[in-house]
Amino acid sequence: MKPKILLATFLLTACTVDAPDTARAPSAVEVADIHSYARPGEARVTHVALDLTPDFEARRITGRARLAIERVEGADSVILDTDDLTILSVTTPAGDSLHHRLGEGDAILGEPLIVHLAEGGDTIVIEYRTSPDAAALQWLEPAQTSGGRLPFLFTQGQAILTRSWVPTQDSPGIRQTYEAVVRVPAGMRAVMSAELLTPEGESVAGGTAYRFRLDQPVPPYLIALAVGDLAFAEIGPRSGVWAEPDVAGAAADEFAEVEEMIDAAERLYGPYRWGRYDILVLPPSFPFGGMENPRLTFATPTILAGDRSLVSLVAHELAHSWSGNLVTNATWSDFWLNEGFTTYIETRLMEELRGREYADMLRQLGRQDLQETISDLGGPSAPDTRLHLDLAGRNPDDGMTSIAYEKGAAFLQTVESVVGRERLDAFLRRYFDEHAFEPMTAERFLEYMHANLFETEQEAARVRAEEWVFEPGLPDNAPVIRSAAFAQVDTQVAAFESGAPPRELDTGDWSTHEWLRFLRALPDTLSAGQLEALDGAFGFTKSGNSEILFAWLRIAIRNRYEPALPALEQFLTTQGRRKFIAPLYEDLAATDWGAPLARSIYARARPTYHAVTANTVDQILDRRPE
Ligand code: BES
Ligand code: ZN
Repeated sequence: MKPKILLATFLLTACTVDAPDTARAPSAVEVADIHSYARPGEARVTHVALDLTPDFEARRITGRARLAIERVEGADSVILDTDDLTILSVTTPAGDSLHHRLGEGDAILGEPLIVHLAEGGDTIVIEYRTSPDAAALQWLEPAQTSGGRLPFLFTQGQAILTRSWVPTQDSPGIRQTYEAVVRVPAGMRAVMSAELLTPEGESVAGGTAYRFRLDQPVPPYLIALAVGDLAFAEIGPRSGVWAEPDVAGAAADEFAEVEEMIDAAERLYGPYRWGRYDILVLPPSFPFGGMENPRLTFATPTILAGDRSLVSLVAHELAHSWSGNLVTNATWSDFWLNEGFTTYIETRLMEELRGREYADMLRQLGRQDLQETISDLGGPSAPDTRLHLDLAGRNPDDGMTSIAYEKGAAFLQTVESVVGRERLDAFLRRYFDEHAFEPMTAERFLEYMHANLFETEQEAARVRAEEWVFEPGLPDNAPVIRSAAFAQVDTQVAAFESGAPPRELDTGDWSTHEWLRFLRALPDTLSAGQLEALDGAFGFTKSGNSEILFAWLRIAIRNRYEPALPALEQFLTTQGRRKFIAPLYEDLAATDWGAPLARSIYARARPTYHAVTANTVDQILDRRPE
């Protein structure tokens, strides 16, 4: 293990120390990204200027991308990533056409676009059109929005989808600033992960144009756009909510603590470097809980529980403003550097807001997710239980499990338990500061940690960082997490198991997380009578809390609790969050009675799902014979 790390570290250092007189493109980090065709060491995109016109009828964006390129002497071409784009022309800014070709395609990576550069020409202009099936785009009918009046469009870039709507070098290690003008039909509004330069919009032929600019360089997976009937509701001096008009008010109330969260994060990890922090609440088909698009987190409406009980998701996306957006995994193999750090910080922020007891419940639930994922993946020796993943020949999406999140967070909890909070906090703050706007690899992080955190060999030996990062399973030095609140819940579960009727359980003022613990701790097999009694006492089938409903529906499927099936069908057909959708189809498909039901619900629901969710469910249902 050691020699491998040393070698990698050496190579990296050799590449990143930029001698100004070398012929290399400045600031290119030459960590090979197997999920991009780009060769940033030869020529790299540094700025993207977009002019976009979405066509809701044709479900296409017509676009012009002007790319600024830096290249080494002698490099006469630049390679971009595309996926299913129609390239109409490639020219110099003066309009002279440039020789270009789309290379052979790959089902995962899309097609490379190779552009021959003019002598001294460092800007190219690409006219293009997206495909109606572009993986990053979801086009919604008015009926799929809450207003029901206008259509909606949103993009999802992570991990390698941006290439299906922007022709650029789509690697997390290749940072680019961007600007855009987006031309939308009258009555609609565009928002992006960038500064909005024209809050009122500009009147143009056929509608309104909105202009944006992001001065901080970001990897392309963070370029994001949404267009719809959008209203703004202010939260604090630098925060607010964008949502459909009938959702914005409730959303602003749900997220009222966000300003406090930003303050807490700055106290712990240094200045928030992105200006504003707004949250866009999407229509319910949004395939994720949240997506950390800079300045504008994209969020599912399924976290609008009405009681602020699911806002740790906002803490998570906000935390990415440091871990992920400031210091970014150089390749998807080190996705854990984004998500594990973020999950750790998420609970720290919630601890600042709501206290230790609350944060420990989140940690405990996370640890349980981790145990389950390890066992789902085949146990503690399964290769995908490593933090640093081998993604050769695979879609990065395949490697994106709770391992990155929860094993990553458990690793930092372990470091904390050895060096103490104060030193870990100071270390992380410095890490974000010294590597701001840079890509990061596991090797480079470990080297930095050995050089800047551990004071003695004993400390390093107690942490066992290399084992955490490169070996499968959960190392046995992970700190045990105790939650007094959950211990009380477990007592009630035990009482239920020994026959106490649900109505007599002591569930007094349980919060969402205690209920989640309760549902997870129930025995696998429950009788119809037990399920009815639980449902009668606690109203799970009617729960307006998406997390509680989801946990209950899994139990209902497992035990074929028929009274919950209409609610299940409703849940599967009215929101598209993959984390909820995929396990429910999986659970159904695993039973004789459920498989046909899953198929019939899916036949209706599939057209309403985002490609990310639909692709996952396709795999779940196709794998099982009719
Ligand atoms: N960056 C992720 C979402 C993501 C991951 C998109 C991988 C595409 C590929 C985001 O920060 C995230 O982790 N969202 C979670 C919520 C979070 C609280 C765990 C989600 O969507 O469930
Ligand atoms: Zn995340």
